[in-house]
Amino acid sequence: MPLIVITGVPCSGKTTRSIQLKQFFEAQGKEVFIVSEYQQIVKADFKKNAFYADSNKEKHIRGLLKSEVLKFINSTNVVILDALNYIKGYRYELYCGTKANKCTQCTIHAEINRDEAWNFNTNREQEEEKYSRDIFDALIMRYEDPDPKNRWDSPLFTVFPENELDSEAIYSSLFKKPPPKPNMSTQNPPLSSTNFLYDLDKITKQIVDDLIKIKNSGCSGEITLPGYEGVTLNVTETNAQQLMLLRRQYLTYSKMHPPEEKDVADLFVQFLSTSLK
Ligand SMILES: *[C@@H]1O[C@H](CO)[C@@H](O)[C@H](O)[C@H]1NC(C)=O
Ligand SMILES: *[C@@H]1O[C@H](CO)[C@@H](O)[C@H](O)[C@H]1NC(C)=O
Ligand SMILES: *[C@@H]1O[C@H](CO)[C@@H](O)[C@H](O)[C@H]1NC(C)=O
Repeated sequence: MPLIVITGVPCSGKTTRSIQLKQFFEAQGKEVFIVSEYQQIVKADFKKNAFYADSNKEKHIRGLLKSEVLKFINSTNVVILDALNYIKGYRYELYCGTKANKCTQCTIHAEINRDEAWNFNTNREQEEEKYSRDIFDALIMRYEDPDPKNRWDSPLFTVFPENELDSEAIYSSLFKKPPPKPNMSTQNPPLSSTNFLYDLDKITKQIVDDLIKIKNSGCSGEITLPGYEGVTLNVTETNAQQLMLLRRQYLTYSKMHPPEEKDVADLFVQFLSTSLK
């Protein structure tokens, strides 16, 4: 049933953790698939450093990985996504995918001291597996830490190289709790929160203002907003009036089908992305 999202900066031990988890779940009688970013890079005949220097190549592989994951998940097996997964918005998309398939998900954050990670990199035997200093540093800069407060990063298990994986806890989180309902409107009535309407207003206004600013600066085609890198918005034909109209629709909908407050921004960006297609 479940998806295990492995995430971490370069050389933090993601593949090692993936293999450990595969062995553990196979010992529990599960069928396990590892979907590996590095293998896809090799298969596509990209060179590692050139690949991470080219956002179009990255986007292409991210799309492939996501469809592989969604192809494999079903009610009996375990899918492990062994990739950097450094974009918050991308992890959110994966979460939406598993949720739509009524599957559970957890996140393993392979954490590491940056110098130690660089050491591992320098000591790699295969030259083509090494990151250049530039790319290594850039990926660390780009990395958006998972946060257990985000529904899509949770439950979150953080492991440093010297830690043991808590396999039992991971197992329980995936198999002993019901999967989330694929519904936007299953959460507590937010009107109990006095700030909800105020926040709803403020958050959506900020996003629309940002978009108008981007649009007015002459951008067209598909863009992404900072913090929502996984979601593209086609701004070619939109204007301030349409964005305000969409915002009003979203507000009306959200008042009737209140999302969790922490999801408001992501859901609104998703909504805009769909509406602007
Ligand atoms: C789940 O997928 C695997 C591999 O694709 C397949 O072997 C297995 O029979 C599937 N299980 C169900 C319940 O569909
Ligand atoms: C979402 O919730 C509504 C009302 O609770 C329910 O009728 C509908 O079937 C749910 N949708 C899904 C996809 O489960
Ligand atoms: C964005 O929208 C415009 C107009 O609707 C369309 O011509 C263009 O192909 C779209 N761009 C992308 C990247 O989808």
